[in-house]
Amino acid sequence: MPEIGVTSESVAAGPLFELRGVGYSYSGRRVALDGIDLVIRPGERIVLLGANGSGKSTLLKLLDGIVAPTSGAITALGRDVAAVAAGEDSFQFHREVGLVFQDPDIQLFSATVMDDVAFGPLQLGLSASEVGERCAEALAEMDIPHIADRAPFELSGGEKKRAAIASVLSLRPQVILLDEPTASLDPRTKWVLVDLIQRLAAAGRTLIVATHELDVVPLISDRVIVLSEGGRIVGDGTPDEILGDRDLLVAANLIHEHLHEHGVVAHSHPHDPEDGHHPA
Ligand SMILES: Nc1ncnc2c1ncn2[C@@H]1O[C@H](COP(=O)(O)OP(=O)(O)OP(=O)(O)O)[C@@H](O)[C@H]1O
Ligand SMILES: [Mg+2]
Repeated sequence: MPEIGVTSESVAAGPLFELRGVGYSYSGRRVALDGIDLVIRPGERIVLLGANGSGKSTLLKLLDGIVAPTSGAITALGRDVAAVAAGEDSFQFHREVGLVFQDPDIQLFSATVMDDVAFGPLQLGLSASEVGERCAEALAEMDIPHIADRAPFELSGGEKKRAAIASVLSLRPQVILLDEPTASLDPRTKWVLVDLIQRLAAAGRTLIVATHELDVVPLISDRVIVLSEGGRIVGDGTPDEILGDRDLLVAANLIHEHLHEHGVVAHSHPHDPEDGHHPA
């Protein structure tokens, strides 16, 4: 298996991200995030859970220094995110923090998948052989060498998603932000991704994954942060603590009291044929 360990030791000491009183409003009006206080340490595997519109993607964009908070402050890898968002030291920052967007069409802009995956390493000024090595590794990680020469626009949604992830992996960032990585993936591809996340985490990378799919949460996280529909943090705990808190999940619109929550936890336990609860 390719080497996917942490390369930078410079930020290993303190928190990776520190958010104090962070708010974000689009166009100064629509409040997406409100009063976020959060500390993220190196090597954590975090799932950001929240209903549609709860601010997950907005929070990932803030952590990636794409946008600056409209109130409060974020320090990321020792840098002020507002400065990164203004372009200061942004290239160096994005060698270390990579975001896979929710919409792969934003990430893929080249003529072929290979060109997209090679883009980051070429920007780093690596030699042709190093670029080739990184591309081969990233394509293999996502199990997509067979689509390397295809045009992104002619791929299926799931193929695009895997290509977009490969284009971030090729930079070998130590912090990887994934926005809904398993959405619309078939079971085998979903497993490829869960397995990848587990291996990246085992190699010391920091992973922050936004999702509202509860079934993968215990497999890919050791800490779960729950956002309310008002863009506030309403839960922060282990997967067991959060997934066991039915009232919290209902309040955050992650399960519905009138829908059978079979998918929440039942799949991590064998069915009890005696309980008579699940119809055959
Ligand atoms: N470009 C934008 N302009 C204006 N409002 C926006 C924009 N992007 C997001 N919003 C609003 O900000 C809020 C948070 O959106 P965000 O995309 O962060 O939520 P999310 O948790 O990622 O949702 P989803 O699960 O649907 O991806 C929503 O109310 C949304 O309508
Ligand atoms: Mg989103």
